[in-house]
Amino acid sequence: MLHANIIKAATPEEAGKLAADVFEALIRTKPACLLGLATGSTPLPLYRELIAREKAGKIDFSRVRSANLDEYKGLGPDHPQSYRYFMQDNLFNHISIKPENTIVPDGLATDPEAMFAAYENQIEAWGGVDLQLLGIGHDGHIGFNEPCDHFPKMTHEVELTAMTREANKRFFASLDEVPTAAFTMGIGTVMAARKVMLIATGADKKEILHKSFFGPVTPEVPASILQFHPDVTVICDAAAWGE
Ligand code: PGA
Repeated sequence: MLHANIIKAATPEEAGKLAADVFEALIRTKPACLLGLATGSTPLPLYRELIAREKAGKIDFSRVRSANLDEYKGLGPDHPQSYRYFMQDNLFNHISIKPENTIVPDGLATDPEAMFAAYENQIEAWGGVDLQLLGIGHDGHIGFNEPCDHFPKMTHEVELTAMTREANKRFFASLDEVPTAAFTMGIGTVMAARKVMLIATGADKKEILHKSFFGPVTPEVPASILQFHPDVTVICDAAAWGE
């Protein structure tokens, strides 16, 4: 591993608090910063902490901007399993961030290529991502960048792997209902962020966490590219770190 800072927390809740410290420091020093946000179970303790800190007057989201990593193709903002819905439900509806200052790839885009270009342009117009939050999939995916033979550069469409659909079926009535494709920021989009924070909690993430940060850098393990990012912080709980 080349650069990453590794912060070990005892529990997922403590990991959320440590992550929130980094978000709080950024928002205080740069009130109109651009956050790259993520969905999934991992960021939930962080989001709960951020909501609590704004209510306590420690953070002000009224000028903050956000760009989410990804969205399921075919799911609109009203679909309870869409990532736009997730973000509203778990964060945006509870903080003072302005709706026009939040972007999530449009799962219903009729012209995906145009949507990808507009997405990248908006990130650029907002000055680039200051802090990109990531979870990690069991196959090493970040965003929905699945293992493949290259590192995709920009926001693009991906076919979801069987492993990812299986991992995410817990949120759907059946595996058949899990979308087969998604729109995601590219590895290039993620690598352009000034700072990256990857959170991994739970024993099931231990193997891929070690492979990603101590193994070879390869598009077969998309998260391994983070070894080449100059400012990465990994926050993990005791279970994900292991011995
Ligand atoms: P999880 O998802 O936080 O629900 O484990 C992580 C991911 O798939 O990127």
